Amino acid sequence: HKKVAILISGGGSNMVSLLESMTGDHPARPCLVLSNNADAGGLKKAAAAGVATAVVDHRPFKGDREAFEAELVKPILEAGADIVCLAGFMRVLTAGFVSQFQGRMLNIHPSLLPKYKGLHTHARALEAGDKEHGCTVHEVTPALDDGPVLGQARVPILPGDTPEDLAQRVLVKEHLLYPAVLRRYAAGDRTPVLID
Ligand code: GAR
Repeated sequence: HKKVAILISGGGSNMVSLLESMTGDHPARPCLVLSNNADAGGLKKAAAAGVATAVVDHRPFKGDREAFEAELVKPILEAGADIVCLAGFMRVLTAGFVSQFQGRMLNIHPSLLPKYKGLHTHARALEAGDKEHGCTVHEVTPALDDGPVLGQARVPILPGDTPEDLAQRVLVKEHLLYPAVLRRYAAGDRTPVLID
């Protein structure tokens, strides 16, 4: 089995969907759930699922990204991860960190990339008057929310939607998309997964 480390910052619902998928004939198994935030709700969920957890708090590094990442990488290397999945991990990673996991790090982003890189994606899609929205899983490259697209899932934008409505509708699709992409990716297949 390929070993997968999952990086989170918050509730970890995508992380849980990935953990739950890695059973049976799946080509990967989880080796670590790592957070920059000791209060991330996902840590307890991972521990309850019997997966090793670790925390590297970014705050003591006071914006020194390289120093933070020098610590962040340690548990990932110790766990022997083959693949790193960012799942609601809310720290920007430097090119130096990303290059250590070139071709084996994935991210899920709550927009139809290349639209709406960065934050507040749901509000921005609403403000633009878009008729559809969604989420993307992509391979991580040094540029933020860039890199080859490995899958996308679409949702309609409905009259009267708030950013919260849209976030919830997209999240349901995220939980389908990310496990489907990881399963293919861990088997060496980079054909994009498209979900309508
Ligand atoms: C998800 O919607 C994910 O796409 C987004 O944060 C949420 C995390 O939820 N990620 C980003 O915005 C990355 N910049 P979760 O902790 O329940 O998986």
